[in-house]
Amino acid sequence: MNVLIIGSGGREHAFAWKLAQSKQLQNLYIAPGNAGTAQCGANVNIAVTDFEAIKNLVWEKDINLVLVGPEDPLVLGIHDFFLQDDVLKDIPVIGPKRDGAQLEGSKDFSKQFMLKHGIPTAKYKSFTKDNISQASDFIDSLEAPYVLKADGLAAGKGVLILEDKEEAKHELNNMILNAKFGNAGNTVVIEEFLKGIELSVFVLTDGKSYKILPAAKDYKRIGVGDKGLNTGGMGAVSPVPFADDAFIKKVEEKIVIPTINGLVKDGIDYRGFIFIGLMNCNGEPFVIEYNCRMGDPETEVVIPRIESDLLDLLEGVSTQTLHQKQFSVTSDIATTVVLVSGGYPEEYQKHKVISGIENNTTSHVFHSGTTIINNDVVTNGGRVFAITSFGKTIEEAIDKSMKSAEMVTYEGKYYRSDIGKDLMNWK
Ligand code: AMP
Ligand code: GLY
Repeated sequence: MNVLIIGSGGREHAFAWKLAQSKQLQNLYIAPGNAGTAQCGANVNIAVTDFEAIKNLVWEKDINLVLVGPEDPLVLGIHDFFLQDDVLKDIPVIGPKRDGAQLEGSKDFSKQFMLKHGIPTAKYKSFTKDNISQASDFIDSLEAPYVLKADGLAAGKGVLILEDKEEAKHELNNMILNAKFGNAGNTVVIEEFLKGIELSVFVLTDGKSYKILPAAKDYKRIGVGDKGLNTGGMGAVSPVPFADDAFIKKVEEKIVIPTINGLVKDGIDYRGFIFIGLMNCNGEPFVIEYNCRMGDPETEVVIPRIESDLLDLLEGVSTQTLHQKQFSVTSDIATTVVLVSGGYPEEYQKHKVISGIENNTTSHVFHSGTTIINNDVVTNGGRVFAITSFGKTIEEAIDKSMKSAEMVTYEGKYYRSDIGKDLMNWK
């Protein structure tokens, strides 16, 4: 099979690395890819939302399956674009159509979906300029802190958690009336704050059956102790010690099955990954959010733990034979540590020459923001690498990732030294 992966991050490198191990793979293309994916297949310099250029590539290279990494092309309807095109309509796309991608593309849609299908989530109400006058009463009915979410995609920045009631009311006005997050904030979801510990569960579905992939915990903030600005993710651990088999069973019964059945009932033919952001509140799972794709850097710990052939699983998604596919996961622990460019998540410099990534036999060095200029591998983004290692314990895996992280050099390198530490003595 000839496969095209859309995207350029660590997630896409992990996909490319795994697919390259499949006996069923002939040629692998990644658009646009990075310096790491170039070692697994051929990069093609096309933007992830340039559907016409993607169409030409699929045609030219005789692609048999397209795996979409990031949310933007999904929310913009890349899958619908394929289905509506005479040349592309029979080429399977892994990732939902625009209707299913609304689970991530609209917080209001996803909350309504959960309410309708009895899926546990925080109590909420949605506001627009038409009913903004009622927002104050709703905020008054909640206890601090107050959670405000811009409805649309806002590059991971659209959620505000505020201690002060007046500030919450002020920010709501800013979002709806002053377009603080552009059109994404025309509708704002206000919801109850959930106290607990967060984790993510990933599901692969063909629209009928599903496989629950390994769970992971990510580390969202830039600073040690989970302090400072929010990032795309600074590290991840899988499995998660506070998500034992009994908890995952609850997630399956209360969340995964109602989600898959709800999609069917609502006439949404969903083929792809569902990323379920969860809060474990005293042993009970509540959905914080859905994403219509895999997480980054969670993919860099989840995918390496899957022993089965990923291409075989994806083929099962496209032909709705996922239930027949063999699926196994190693019990070994995987951790990843993300190396970023100095300054990230604010301003940072690019094109710093990287060394020390060759011949690493301890860890998998997944590239995120890298490219090749004049035969040098150079930095090309805020998150530069995700360094994944295995161990029988979190300590063992993290120790390897940290040693590998030290071996990589480029100007401005930064990483969190405390990834996984909170989980090491979990009881
Ligand atoms: P989201 O963009 O929906 O992932 O939200 C960003 C982060 O805000 C989440 O990862 C949580 O840490 C936090 N968060 C969102 N909603 C809630 C909630 N209802 N209660 C507590 N924390 C929340
Ligand atoms: N690491 C969180 C995400 O991919 O959205």
